[in-house]
Amino acid sequence: MLTVLIANPKGGCGKTTIATNLAAAFANNGLVTTIADVDNQKSSLGWLQTRPETAAPIKGVDWGGDVGKVGKKTARLVIDSPAAMSIKETKDYVRLSDVVVVPILPSAFDQRTTAAFLAELNLLKPVRKERKAVALIRNRIRGRSRAAARLDRFLIDKDLNGVTRLPDRALYPELADRGLSLFDLKDQTSEPLRQDWWPLLRFIENAAA
Ligand SMILES: Nc1ncnc2c1ncn2[C@@H]1O[C@H](COP(=O)(O)OP(=O)(O)O)[C@@H](O)[C@H]1O
Ligand SMILES: [Mg+2]
Repeated sequence: MLTVLIANPKGGCGKTTIATNLAAAFANNGLVTTIADVDNQKSSLGWLQTRPETAAPIKGVDWGGDVGKVGKKTARLVIDSPAAMSIKETKDYVRLSDVVVVPILPSAFDQRTTAAFLAELNLLKPVRKERKAVALIRNRIRGRSRAAARLDRFLIDKDLNGVTRLPDRALYPELADRGLSLFDLKDQTSEPLRQDWWPLLRFIENAAA
């Protein structure tokens, strides 16, 4: 089983969006996939409840109280985490994971919070010693906006590498409302949006290898 933790203390940066899309990408590839929802808001589990029966199946488990069990056949486990997670909790979940995905928004506040979080993350023993892979994802990017350029400069200044950029698109919340994701669509129009995810999917599979 390969475990991917989505984490960032900043609310609204895209953790649930990334957790649900990643889970659907795995499920549509025929992998037995489970989402563990640690967040009390249960957004991922709510999304699963609205998911059509015809869509690729994804199992949901509630880890709100504590780390729970996952079905033995699970090949990909995606952990969706809450905004306010202590560093101790973060450490516990990082220890369980093979890859940590950290979304970052193009906003000065988010950048500072995320950089501080990444610094904390890098100090954690499982990341430092066992070299857990950390993937930084620029999310809700608007083409040539000043904010996007500032985020790029910020990453260069901090010597951080982003794995990919996801654009700001209304399709994300629209699909989420219907229990769906980009990976449940097969049309050509949305194909470029799926391609944005390829570097992350490759990153995760390389960590698995
Ligand atoms: N790339 C994107 N384009 C458009 N809207 C997005 C994108 N990523 C996230 N959102 C929206 O931003 C809001 C917060 O995202 P969410 O994934 O719930 O963040 P978190 O789980 O970190 O709190 C949601 O309404 C979501 O649909
Ligand atoms: Mg969330």
